[in-house]
Amino acid sequence: MKIAVLPGDGIGTEIVAEAVKVLNALDLPFEMESALVGGAAYDAHGHPLPEATLKLAMASDAVLFGAVGDWKYDTLDRPLRPEQAILGLRKHMGLFANFRPAICYEQLVGASSLKPELIAGLDILIIRELTGDIYFGQPRGRRIATDGHFPGAEEAFDTMRYSKPEIERIAHVAFQAARKRNKKVTSVDKANVLETFQFWKDVVTEVHAQYPDVELQHMYVDNAAMQLVKAPKAFDVVVTGNMFGDILSDEASMLTGSIGMLPSASLNTKNQGLYEPSHGSAPDIAGKGVANPLATILSAAMMLRFSLNQEAAALRIETAVQRVLAQGLRTPDIYSEGTTKVGTSQMGDAVVNALRA
Ligand code: IPM
Ligand code: MG
Repeated sequence: MKIAVLPGDGIGTEIVAEAVKVLNALDLPFEMESALVGGAAYDAHGHPLPEATLKLAMASDAVLFGAVGDWKYDTLDRPLRPEQAILGLRKHMGLFANFRPAICYEQLVGASSLKPELIAGLDILIIRELTGDIYFGQPRGRRIATDGHFPGAEEAFDTMRYSKPEIERIAHVAFQAARKRNKKVTSVDKANVLETFQFWKDVVTEVHAQYPDVELQHMYVDNAAMQLVKAPKAFDVVVTGNMFGDILSDEASMLTGSIGMLPSASLNTKNQGLYEPSHGSAPDIAGKGVANPLATILSAAMMLRFSLNQEAAALRIETAVQRVLAQGLRTPDIYSEGTTKVGTSQMGDAVVNALRA
């Protein structure tokens, strides 16, 4: 079991160190190798995704990823910005299926900005297509307009596109995931306006014929954004394109009140995967030892389950995390009165202790 460890920037190094600590405590035969990625790699090698890092990732069963980005890189040319590292890994590894669960932990119900009764027991899974759509569609760029409202003016453009096989494979992933849950899929589109998403809707409907036991609902993205805060528990599995999924998964994460708790997995057709917390590099708190490592630790659990075939070990980690929450330990982002505030490494140590308990 070979794991590429890519901590990246900001709090990435601190939180990944805790996840590695937890993995080591499992006493399983992992081979872990670290490499630079993002701004850290740009500083050292002049590129956010150096050849050696990409090679290591491609040759591993799984990638444990921290986070990339810092405001200081925002003025670099786009191909050199830290975000290109994660986009490049998604593209080169073919990581088309992105799983972003939004689970509200019983002990953290009060941390959400929504009323407790709306989110208590919330357990939804957003499945985001990750290698297509307007994120990767060509052509894109800047040019002088030859038509439109202002011919002769400077303009910029991107291309939204999806091929049938791209939609089919993510639809299969969603229906299969729903079968292991509450058997309901909501496919989010903008079929009332966009050709790409009318096609999306048609193809998802076609694939659904193979899953008569799963309920399929279609919803426009603007309505989905509204329903997510109105009645989030009405969802089970949500499947959508790359850009809508980017936006809706951030919205869903806040239902739980604690983006610091949410793991994610990005898989290719060989179940090779990249595992990262749903949150970013948080440069404002980097190096202070206060970041919440639980999303990364839970991402390591997803890695054990999906790419390394170690369900029992995954469950051990998830149970250990529940235990430290039950013990009342909280990093500042999830702290509330009456609980015990701890730092990043204390939280990691507590999970290790709970594993052994
Ligand atoms: C995410 C992030 C990325 C995305 C950025 C960092 C490129 O927002 O993983 O959701 O837009 O996909
Ligand atoms: Mg995002």
